Amino acid sequence: MKALILAGGTGSRLRPITYSMAKQLVPVANKPVIEFGIESILQAGVTEFGIIIGDTGEAVKAAVGDGSRWGIKITYIPQPAPLGLAHAVATARPFLGDDDFVMYLGDNIIKSSVRSLVEEFESLRPAATILLTPVNNPSQFGVAELEGSQVKRLEEKPKEPKSNLALVGVYLFDKRIHDVIAELKPSARGEYEITEAIQGLIDRQLPVRSTIVEGWWKDTGDVAAMLEANRLILEDMVGCVDGDIDAHSKLEGRITVGKGTTIVNSVVRGPVIIGDGCQIKDAYVGPFTAIADACVLEKSEIENSIVMADCTIKDAPSRIESSLIGRGASITRVDRRPSAMQLVLGDSSQVVLP
Ligand code: G1P
Repeated sequence: MKALILAGGTGSRLRPITYSMAKQLVPVANKPVIEFGIESILQAGVTEFGIIIGDTGEAVKAAVGDGSRWGIKITYIPQPAPLGLAHAVATARPFLGDDDFVMYLGDNIIKSSVRSLVEEFESLRPAATILLTPVNNPSQFGVAELEGSQVKRLEEKPKEPKSNLALVGVYLFDKRIHDVIAELKPSARGEYEITEAIQGLIDRQLPVRSTIVEGWWKDTGDVAAMLEANRLILEDMVGCVDGDIDAHSKLEGRITVGKGTTIVNSVVRGPVIIGDGCQIKDAYVGPFTAIADACVLEKSEIENSIVMADCTIKDAPSRIESSLIGRGASITRVDRRPSAMQLVLGDSSQVVLP
C-alpha cells in the first residue's frame, strides 16, 4: 500500500491567505494541515508517500521535507496543471505502479486513523473504498446514493443532491482505477473527476465499498471550516506549558505554551496553543485560539482564532474573534489625529468592524 497526498489546488476560498501560502500549509493548532493527513496514514503502517504538488510545490517541499522525521519516504510529483483529482492519479502512475494506494486530499482532516480502512481493504480486496459522511450542504461535495450498503451512484457537486452523504477526501484504490481514468472525459468544470472515475468502477460492476466515517471530518477549504478544524483539534489536545508565566497571569484549562514564550499579567483560557518565542502581555487569549511562533500580543484580547507566525497585535480596541491572521501581520494603534483607520490589505482581504 502506498499513499498519495494531493497538495496542489489554488485554495480560492481561503484568499488572501492562499495568495502567499499553500492551503495545505495553513496551520491548525500550530501544525500544517497536511501533516494531519500524513500522520493518519502513517498509523496504518504506510511508509511510501507520493505528494502531488502544483504552483506552491516548493513551499510544500520546504515545509514537509523528505519524510525522514516520520521515518517515511516522500516522492514529490509535480502536476503540470490542476486538471482534477483523477488527473492527479494519472500523473502519479509512475510512482504508484500497480500497487494499492490510499489517496488523501491534503486539505482534509479526519479524526480517525485510516488504519482499519486499510486493513479492511486488504482483506476484502474491493476495487475501491470510499468514505462518506452526512453534511448539511451536499451540493458542495461529491454525493453518494446508496442502496442498502451498496453505492448505487456518485455525483460530483450535484445541484439537486440525492442524499446528504458527502464523499470525504480519503479513498482507497487498487490498480483497476487506472483503466477507468484512462477513458475519462473532462467534466463540465473542465476537470478529470475522481468521483466519475469511481462511478466508472460501479458501471463496470466492480466492487466499491463505502464506510461512514467515525468521528469528525473537515475539508478545511474556507475560513469557517479552518477555524472549526482548529477547535476540534484543540479540544483533544493534551496541554504542556514550557514558557515563562509570571505570578500575575492566570492559565485556565488545557494550554500548550512553547519554549521561550513569556506570559505577563494575562489570562489564557484553554484550549489554547501558543508557540515558541511569543510575548503575551496584559492580554486575554480565549478558548480555541492557536498562536504560532514569535508573535507579540499586548493589551489585546483574542479568541477562536488562528494567528500565524511573526504577528504583532497591540492595543486592539476590541476583542478579536473568529479570525485567521497570516504571517507577519500587524494590528496596532496610534495616538494621533486624525483618528482614522489605516489599512494595508492584500487582495480579497476582509475586515469586519464591530
Ligand atoms: C473534492 C472532491 C469531492 C469531495 C471533496 C472532499 O472536492 O471532488 O467529491 O467531496 O473534495 O473535500 P473539491 O475540494 O475539489 O471541491
